Amino acid sequence: MEIDSKKLIGNFVNSIKDTLKLGSRSVVGVDVGLSAVKVAEIEGNKETKEYKLISYASVPLPEGAIIEDEIQDEEVIVEALKQALLRAKVSSDNICLGISGPNTVARRLQLAGGSDEEIEDQVIWEAEQYLPFEIEESAVSFYTMGENEGGGVDVLVAAAKNTVIQQYKAIFEKAELRLKILDLGIISLINVFELVMGAKLDEPNQSYLLIDLGAQKTEFIIYKNNMIVFSKEIQVGGVMITEEIQRQMGVNYYEAEDLKITGDENGNLPEEILEIIDDVIEAFFSEIKKTIDFYVSSTSDESLVGCYVTGGSALIPGIIEGLEALLGVDVGILNPFEAIGYNEKKFDEEKINEIAYRGVSVLGLAMREL
Ligand SMILES: Nc1ncnc2c1ncn2[C@@H]1O[C@H](COP(=O)(O)OP(=O)(O)OP(=O)(O)O)[C@@H](O)[C@H]1O
Ligand SMILES: [Mg+2]
Repeated sequence: MEIDSKKLIGNFVNSIKDTLKLGSRSVVGVDVGLSAVKVAEIEGNKETKEYKLISYASVPLPEGAIIEDEIQDEEVIVEALKQALLRAKVSSDNICLGISGPNTVARRLQLAGGSDEEIEDQVIWEAEQYLPFEIEESAVSFYTMGENEGGGVDVLVAAAKNTVIQQYKAIFEKAELRLKILDLGIISLINVFELVMGAKLDEPNQSYLLIDLGAQKTEFIIYKNNMIVFSKEIQVGGVMITEEIQRQMGVNYYEAEDLKITGDENGNLPEEILEIIDDVIEAFFSEIKKTIDFYVSSTSDESLVGCYVTGGSALIPGIIEGLEALLGVDVGILNPFEAIGYNEKKFDEEKINEIAYRGVSVLGLAMREL
């Protein structure tokens, strides 16, 4: 079957071109995670790298609205999305949505290079080889990252299955919103990572590991020589602990979340909870170890110099120390507010702390410019 490469790439980026005609350049980031729908708006300047959070809201999702990255209940998502936008009082209607999951792919490719058209052809040819789904049923886009040592170009290819895009389009239509930009979750995380790390990342041949520990999944990204060299999503996350608390203690989802996050009436985590956490994080560590071993054995990269974590599950007691022991490098929390300002009258410390852990992805989406 003949593939119309231009059309495929066009599909993904058309929406971006559309908006060039509009006045407002700021975008509203939207992140639909298992635990909540989050929205954020950032005022910023790409040249001076000055960014300021101007609005944020997070609306929790009920149990089962999403299962394994598949939306089960569209209506619930539509309502949460509308409410989040209302609460955040966003000023722009240019929405940038982050997508992730098994029906999306991000991959770095080394190509021979050439004219834009030649690069496009190479991207399509390569994508056909490795995409885990049919190229005819997906949208493919790429960013040229620069020339490589071999005289070719490095590109980051992003692809998503049409069914995922269609489902989100339907949700946004129901909410009477127009989806303007789609981006991959890992790219939004990297936007913030690069901003916070700054010139430290220019050091050649030093790899950093960035881990987003969410509710249903963990994003695992290796960053080296100013680019993503490896990424993988693993199906472990904080909800595994919640479910185990539900099962062992006979409580519902909300009670279990509460026990896990705030503990008992004195704010202490009961012994039973700590035991559950210990058991589940052993499984986390073993998955993370498998992923890092796979990366090291397939690339012989021994240059890991540090690890940064984000996501709500980075707050699980013992996680940082455990990762340090596992990886043998320093592990820190990626704090977006080292590089992004905010209005102190509008956001209190507690809110900023929550956003610092749970909002990195949506902040990265909101940083996008049209
Ligand atoms: N203090 C805490 N201790 C332990 N876990 C916490 C704490 N605070 C939040 N969490 C957990 O963090 C998770 C939510 O984090 P986050 O908002 O990053 O996930 P998400 O983006 O909704 O999920 P995903 O990206 O996997 O779809 C939940 O599982 C929640 O229980
Ligand atoms: Mg998330």
